[in-house]
Amino acid sequence: MSTIPEHPARRVRSFVRRAGRTTAGQQRALAQLWPKWGLEEPPDPLDLDQVFARSAPRTLEIGFGDGDVLVAMASAAPQHDFVGVEVHEPGVGHCLLGLEQAGVTNVRLIRHDAMEVLQHWLPADSLDRVNLFFPDPWPKKRHHKRRIVQPVFLGFVAKALKTGGLLHLATDWAPYAEHMEETLAASADFSRENRGPQDRPETKFQRRGERLGHEIRDLYYRRK
Ligand SMILES: C[S@@+](CC[C@H](N)C(=O)[O-])C[C@H]1O[C@@H](n2cnc3c(N)ncnc32)[C@H](O)[C@@H]1O
Repeated sequence: MSTIPEHPARRVRSFVRRAGRTTAGQQRALAQLWPKWGLEEPPDPLDLDQVFARSAPRTLEIGFGDGDVLVAMASAAPQHDFVGVEVHEPGVGHCLLGLEQAGVTNVRLIRHDAMEVLQHWLPADSLDRVNLFFPDPWPKKRHHKRRIVQPVFLGFVAKALKTGGLLHLATDWAPYAEHMEETLAASADFSRENRGPQDRPETKFQRRGERLGHEIRDLYYRRK
C-alpha cells in the first residue's frame, strides 16, 4: 500500500481559489493577450533587463486584483517597469483587457503565488518599489496565519528590494494596519517613512472599504 499521505502538509496560503466567473472577454484576453504580457515560471530567476529589453526603475504590485491601478500607474510612468502578481483568473483577464486598451508595454503579469514569486522568480536587489494594496485582511483570529504580511514574507520582500527601495502598503482594516506596523517594527530590514497624502490611484477594494465606513491607511517603509 502507498505510504504517500492523501493530503500532504501544505504551507498556509494567503488566498483561497475563489470561483468567480471569468467572462468571455476575459477568457479571450487570457488566451490571446497572455503571450504578450504574461510571464511563465522561469527555470532560474528572471533577468528583468532582458524581459523588458531595457534597464529601468521597477515596481512589483502584489495582489493587483482587477489591475486597474497597475494599468493606471504604468500608463502614467512609461519610464518605469511594472510587474504585477495575482492568482485570481478573472482579475488577470480584466487586467489584460486594460493593458490592451491602454497599449502599455512596460508591464508584465505573473499568475502565481506571490510568496513563491518573491522567493524563486525575482533576483535579489531587483526592485525599486513593492506595492501591496488592500491585501485580504483575514479578520477571524483563526485565519490570521493567512495574512500575507508575516516575517517570512517581509524577508522575501527585503531580499528582492534594492537598498533604499520602498514598500508601500495600504489597508482599510484597522487591526491589519496594526498587525502590519507591529510586524514591520520587528523587522531589522525596514524603517518607517512618513509621507504626505497617498500617491496612488484608488483601488476597487478601497472603494468597498470606504462604502463600509472604514478608514484607509497607507504605510511606507524603506529597505535599510
Ligand atoms: C482584497 S483583494 C485587493 C485587490 C486590489 N489590490 C484592490 O485593492 O482592489 C486581494 C487580492 O490579493 C490576491 N492575493 C492574495 N494572496 C496572494 C498571493 N499570495 N499571491 C498573489 N495574489 C494574491 C487575491 O487573489 C486578491 O485578488
